[in-house]
Amino acid sequence: MKLPFILAKRFVAGETFDEAVPKITELNSKNIPITLDLLGENVKDRVTADKTVATYIELLEAIKEAKLDSTISIKLTMIGLDIDYEYCQNNLYRLLEVAKKNDQFVRIDMEGSDYTQVTIDVFTEAFKLYGKHVGIVIQAYLHRTKDDISMLANIGADVRLCKGAYKESKDIALQDMDDIREAYKEYAKVLIEKTKMPRMATHDEILVDWLMKYANQENIEISRFEFQMLYGLRQDTMEELTSKGYNTRIYVPFGTMWFPYFKRRLMERKENIWFIFSTMFKK
Ligand code: FDA
Repeated sequence: MKLPFILAKRFVAGETFDEAVPKITELNSKNIPITLDLLGENVKDRVTADKTVATYIELLEAIKEAKLDSTISIKLTMIGLDIDYEYCQNNLYRLLEVAKKNDQFVRIDMEGSDYTQVTIDVFTEAFKLYGKHVGIVIQAYLHRTKDDISMLANIGADVRLCKGAYKESKDIALQDMDDIREAYKEYAKVLIEKTKMPRMATHDEILVDWLMKYANQENIEISRFEFQMLYGLRQDTMEELTSKGYNTRIYVPFGTMWFPYFKRRLMERKENIWFIFSTMFKK
């Protein structure tokens, strides 16, 4: 059964790029840059993976053509990671060639823990070839992150730090929110110290406040890091941070395969569920 798009409208900018453009333009007009994410994951066949790469390439060209202030985020499982390592890598390089030609940026989202090592491997090889055109995401809740952050900071990678959105067991990931916040702070400090522009992805008031205070206390220029939030969540906060001179960026998902992303947002916060039900009854 296909659920009606109206359910996801709060978190997803449209089912097509054209539907998403007015929302991107509006955010750009408020000086907020975007990361576009074509929704989908776990492609199992080459025909679909090839089509996805072609769509990503069209997306990069369309962003350039429309002069939007937008990077893109991709998932390696959408371009063949479940099929074959080298095939996926070649698909990524096809995309990065276009990003390099147009001076654009592609970030590799982080998926569940089965993919952490392989995603880091693909990223580090791509980083050697495409440098500033490619970035990665690291999840603060994973026990292994301490080592990963250190390695990525040492090579000067462009890292988005998030808490982690997938259900993981206690052997693999921290479970307690206070512990996750402490880990997030520790990794944020390392990234600020060692990388050019760490991207702090969180809606958590405690972490947002902590970051602002930490920067102030340590005399860190606010231009040295970026806040990232998801489309449909805390836009007022993003506008306020932008007006205070912080770098900000909103992650804008679009596409027909919105259900898994939508489900993760609902599971994260019960207020999101109430919001969906309330919008269902609004014209
Ligand atoms: P969390 O949901 O833990 O909430 C903590 C507290 O923050 C709440 O109790 C509340 O006080 C406050 N809060 C949260 N949402 C609020 C709201 N809407 N309004 C007001 N207060 C609110 N994950 C992943 O595994 N791989 C990835 O590649 C990415 N990529 C990514 C990009 C970007 C830009 C973002 C923002 C997030 C991701 N994530 C992700 C998701 C991330 O791992 C995490 O699941 C969510 O951001 C939820 O964690 P938070 O820290 O945002 O707040």
